[in-house]
Amino acid sequence: MRITVNPHAFTDMQLENAAAILQGGGICAFPTETVYGLGANAFDEKAVKKIFEAKGRPQDNPLIVHVSDRSQLDDICTVTPLAEMLMDRFWGGPLTLILPKKEAVPYSVTAGLETVAVRLPSHPVANALIRLSGLPIAAPSANLSGKPSPTRAAHVIADLEGRADCIIDGGDCLWGVESTVLDLTVSPPAVLRPGAVTKEELSEVIGEVIYGTGVGAPKSPGMKYTHYAPNAPVYIAEGEDALARIYSAAEKFQKPGVLYYQTERPKFSSSVFAGKNEKEYAVNLFFALREFDKMGVDVIFAMPPKEGGMGDAVRNRLFKSAGGKTI
Ligand code: TXA
Ligand code: MG
Repeated sequence: MRITVNPHAFTDMQLENAAAILQGGGICAFPTETVYGLGANAFDEKAVKKIFEAKGRPQDNPLIVHVSDRSQLDDICTVTPLAEMLMDRFWGGPLTLILPKKEAVPYSVTAGLETVAVRLPSHPVANALIRLSGLPIAAPSANLSGKPSPTRAAHVIADLEGRADCIIDGGDCLWGVESTVLDLTVSPPAVLRPGAVTKEELSEVIGEVIYGTGVGAPKSPGMKYTHYAPNAPVYIAEGEDALARIYSAAEKFQKPGVLYYQTERPKFSSSVFAGKNEKEYAVNLFFALREFDKMGVDVIFAMPPKEGGMGDAVRNRLFKSAGGKTI
């Protein structure tokens, strides 16, 4: 089933069928302010299993549990004082917190971990859907495992039509990269995935915050898998003479694609402008990677933004999509 809603003007009635699908153990794709999610009742193991099957997601990669009201957390996790402070400041919004789990949350959601990831989105459609279902909703990004996350309904349809019981088209996502994941079960708290809520902003509220390493023995199990991979290989080109290096590396290829940032438009027809600043880059990033697939390029060269703030979120996704390859 497909449902189209205007995120600025919709009624509960338009989402009732989708909420009923969730209550009946089905899986439903819906928009959030970060990327589209693929949701199921977090307390229903069978429903959660369907998410992993539809995405082709490895079983050891845990899901985020989404709520529309903080009181739902009573059955889900232990809310610590630091968590309260962060929720007051950043919820609803693009911040996911890792907290000690409670018994009601099945291990299929947490991939066997004693911790659980929780988030309260700001997107009105996401919140209305969760509220109407009356359930906490476990939801990863609504893409096939390994593909770039979906920032538009068309991306979800391309990946999951026929695999999800319902797809809600609620327009384009505001941020374009997934939520910041902050582990509050370690001291100092560690950012496991950078996002729109920056490390600097978190520090302003709770003091010292570090970046988790994620390499070797990943604390966030999802970090070890191939991610955000378009069909063509991606290479990162950084620094002053990035464009010159791209021109020379491109000679070996038939149809190079370039994701360019803070430079003139490259001479190739398959060039995509990343945006005027890091925030725009984040909004365009996954869309651009999927555009390169459509254009049929045989290589992608991408110029990353500088480190810091939102730049860290973009760089994290870009370097993953490149599998670390640079020129
Ligand atoms: O913005 C978002 O977070 C989107 C929307 C739909 O809410 N969701 C999303 O989910 O990006 P997903 O499954 O694609 O990414 C969740 C990340 C993964 O890297 C996963 O390993 C990590 O969160 N994660 C989930 N539970 C965890 C836990 N208990 N401990 C450590 N990492 C966890
Ligand atoms: Mg994902």
